Amino acid sequence: MGLRKDFLWGGATAANQCEGGYNEGGRGLANVDVAPIGEDREAVISGNMKMFDFDENHRYPAKVGIDMYHRYKEDIALFGEMGFKTYRLSIAWTRIFPKGDELEPNEEGLQFYEDLFKECHKYGIEPLVTITHFDCPMHLIKEYGGWRNRKMVEFYERLCKVLFTRYKGLVKYWLTFNEINMILHAPFMGAGLYFEEGENKEQVKYQAAHHELVSSAVATKIAHEIDPENQVGCMLAAGANYPYNCRPEDVWASRQADRSSYFFIDVQSRGEYPAYVLKQLEREGITIQMEEGDKELLKNNTVDFISFSYYSSHVTTTENNVEKTDGNAFSSVKNPYLDSSEWGWQIDPLGLRITMNDIYDRYQKPLFIVENGLGAIDEPDENGNITDDYRIDYLSKHIQAMKDAVETDGVDLLGYTTWGCIDLVSAGTGEMKKRYGFIYVDLDNEGNGTLERRKKKSFDWYKKVIATNGEDLSND
Ligand code: BG6
Repeated sequence: MGLRKDFLWGGATAANQCEGGYNEGGRGLANVDVAPIGEDREAVISGNMKMFDFDENHRYPAKVGIDMYHRYKEDIALFGEMGFKTYRLSIAWTRIFPKGDELEPNEEGLQFYEDLFKECHKYGIEPLVTITHFDCPMHLIKEYGGWRNRKMVEFYERLCKVLFTRYKGLVKYWLTFNEINMILHAPFMGAGLYFEEGENKEQVKYQAAHHELVSSAVATKIAHEIDPENQVGCMLAAGANYPYNCRPEDVWASRQADRSSYFFIDVQSRGEYPAYVLKQLEREGITIQMEEGDKELLKNNTVDFISFSYYSSHVTTTENNVEKTDGNAFSSVKNPYLDSSEWGWQIDPLGLRITMNDIYDRYQKPLFIVENGLGAIDEPDENGNITDDYRIDYLSKHIQAMKDAVETDGVDLLGYTTWGCIDLVSAGTGEMKKRYGFIYVDLDNEGNGTLERRKKKSFDWYKKVIATNGEDLSND
């Protein structure tokens, strides 16, 4: 018994990290556009530095991305050549509703994605669409305060109705919010939240999270009403938390850390706020304003599958003075048993199997790994070739761990999409030199380069992996 015959192999991107064309086709400005590369990025994406427009002192890599807005046909042809069964991409909300609160959508934006989806189907590629991958129209942030405002539920619902209606028959797999738990760690990027001096940030974040959770349930409801074929998933930045040592205090701390993320999926998949979070909010003096009907809505519209990103496991302790290391949005205690990427993200293939088992045990719904990969510096040799054996090594070990979870442990898995199947702008740092792709893009951190696409060694390797449905992972 191997992976399912219709296993959805593919790759993933996000609109703001690859499209560019930020002011074309009637598109409006979004939070993700105004996140600069450089030392201020962190403060901006966490909502602590006000950046509501471009200024002269910063460079904004999302303006150009990798210019996929103009080059998507070439890129999708390369995905087709690798044999992708699915391509995960996100919709830029501001292409559809440039300000976010209009009553009528922007036809040019709708047409753009229709063409793109049709292009995918030409190659037998099933689109997997993230409705919001970190993006929020700037107008909604300026006028309404982003997701802290209940009105967002209405605007998001309008967006979803338009998308599900227009793309009926073209798109079947939908994700409501990318890495929904990111709201706690990078709230401007995750939910358009900018904090005023002295504001109770936790209160704002959990209220905004409630609005996203309600919106996710609304989306699931109308997706099913408009087309019963639609499959809707939630999306979590995952990675099991290990205790630093076997002291019960560390074990408990790691459980708590897991719960701070699982809380979101508990609501989206089980349909109610878990007791531990209600107690936590009570302890912290946080009150969530709920409207009548919210509880029923959440209960009656749970997701069809659970998707998640996995880059690394995490380590938790109550001890001070332990070495820390970077990771996907949240830093972690450094695990002495693991190697790290050039950005300090630790490499733990078995952690993927552990994470899959944790999630499957908890929810018993099909899983979908929608992000996994190695951000690395690729140096083309004198002939322009990129021999990225380190990436092949990372991916093959993770795919093996994923297969173990399926074949040995019985986890039900719909598919696997590697992150940044084509090099793109890093969400965390805004850099181009942190590359994940099978396809190299000639563009550097300063925005110089021809934007030419080039296959790396991993391109043919992944093509073989897909062709053998994951049976042949060798690098030869
Ligand atoms: C996830 C995001 O957090 O990790 C992606 O969904 C992001 O948007 C990816 O790009 C990798 O992170 P980074 O910081 O290396 O781009």
